[in-house]
Amino acid sequence: MSILAITGGQRLSGEIRASGAKNAVLPILAATLLSDQTCTIENVPHLHDVTTMLQLLGQMGASLTVDEKQTIDIDPATITHPKAPYELVKTMRASILVLGPLLARCGHAEVSLPGGCAIGSRPVDLHLKGLEAMGADIEVDNGYIKARAQRLHGAHIFLDKVTVTGTENLLMAATLAEGQTTIENAAMEPEVVDLAHFLQAMGAEIEGIGSSSLTITGKPELRGCRYRVMPDRIEIGTFLVAAAITGGSIRINGSCNEVLEAIIIKLAEAGATIETGGQNEDAWIQLDMQGRRPQAVDIVTAPYPGFPTDMQAQFCALNAVANGVSVITENLFENRFMHLNELARMGADISIEGNRAIIKGRDTLKGAPVTATDLRASASLVLAGLAAEGQTRVFDVHYIDRGYECIEEKLSHLGATIQRQATAEQA
Ligand code: EPZ
Repeated sequence: MSILAITGGQRLSGEIRASGAKNAVLPILAATLLSDQTCTIENVPHLHDVTTMLQLLGQMGASLTVDEKQTIDIDPATITHPKAPYELVKTMRASILVLGPLLARCGHAEVSLPGGCAIGSRPVDLHLKGLEAMGADIEVDNGYIKARAQRLHGAHIFLDKVTVTGTENLLMAATLAEGQTTIENAAMEPEVVDLAHFLQAMGAEIEGIGSSSLTITGKPELRGCRYRVMPDRIEIGTFLVAAAITGGSIRINGSCNEVLEAIIIKLAEAGATIETGGQNEDAWIQLDMQGRRPQAVDIVTAPYPGFPTDMQAQFCALNAVANGVSVITENLFENRFMHLNELARMGADISIEGNRAIIKGRDTLKGAPVTATDLRASASLVLAGLAAEGQTRVFDVHYIDRGYECIEEKLSHLGATIQRQATAEQA
């Protein structure tokens, strides 16, 4: 596994461009299975998870054409193997997103049950319950979800918990179901909205997009289309924290400012000056910390439009060097504080009480060898390394490649001292 070696102390400055959103492109790629016509997807980020999803579609029988400008043509006319094998699903939980589309399109599907992961058990019971309400016969056998349905029918579904991929799976399945489906307590994340807009471009009939109550009128079939994936708000938020934690000033082009409110408010509270401008693909956001040390900010994670859990680890790094004491409350996942032990190895003063972490900001952190445990934890350790004295080496950094496109190139472009090293066994 490779390592990222970071020497702290540089204030970041300059401009970068945001990549397409991982958590939007994954359901959108799965949704192409709903039609037998070709879809062209633009602004696809070059991420390990995207490669995995493309492998999955390819081995089902779809044919893919990838060009160098991050545009992908997907022709799912011949789906011969509606199956997601354990070998791929275990590397990417989001593979569960092919279940709804395969069931709706082919009438049967076999998808490996995604196990838990580092941040929590992450069950998919609400996905299965919703599909059963729509008429699917589902059994779990030998670690696989085996689902069948002549034709799914509309249903009134109330989700006991707000689940992003659960909402997405049921939304996709409902677009081809007989009659009308309502999904109450639906997730309202911007990536769910982006998926819904893609489905509309395919001819789906969806009302209530962006609200917690979705109404879908099923169609006999959907058509191919061309669609541009939204920018990645979590990547943007992560780079804004990188500028804030180093006292720097950066501009991110191709932003999605209208869905960054919770993050912007917290960065302003921490003492950053933030400006936004431009429209659509020309939108931009600028953060200037003017060399100041951040103020500690309390964080409480919640489903959108609350503060995103995917930015919690990054703000722990910022609070670790902030002026004052902060309380971080993680409400979505039961084990999403693993980055804290690694930050403590760098000198952070942190105590954990259940789903709350109390962080007493320190003037500086000391560079140290640390190990990533999950995608956003690895980002948090890189951010801490940018601010720490001396060198930080982040091990198991393959996690970061799942969700950040060319992170060391983008950070180097902003003035960071960061390079990827092969580990001993690779050298
Ligand atoms: C999506 O995961 C994201 N992944 C996650 O991003 C993100 O952290 C999460 O939503 C919350 O915003 C993708 O979109 C690919 P959930 P998802 O279902 O859908 C419980 C990242 O870093 N739950 O919204 O798997 C579950 O245990 C990743 O990019 C059930 O109980 O999350 C959790 O406590 C990490 N039963 C809560 O709901 C179910 O059937 C929210 O999970 C489904 C979920």
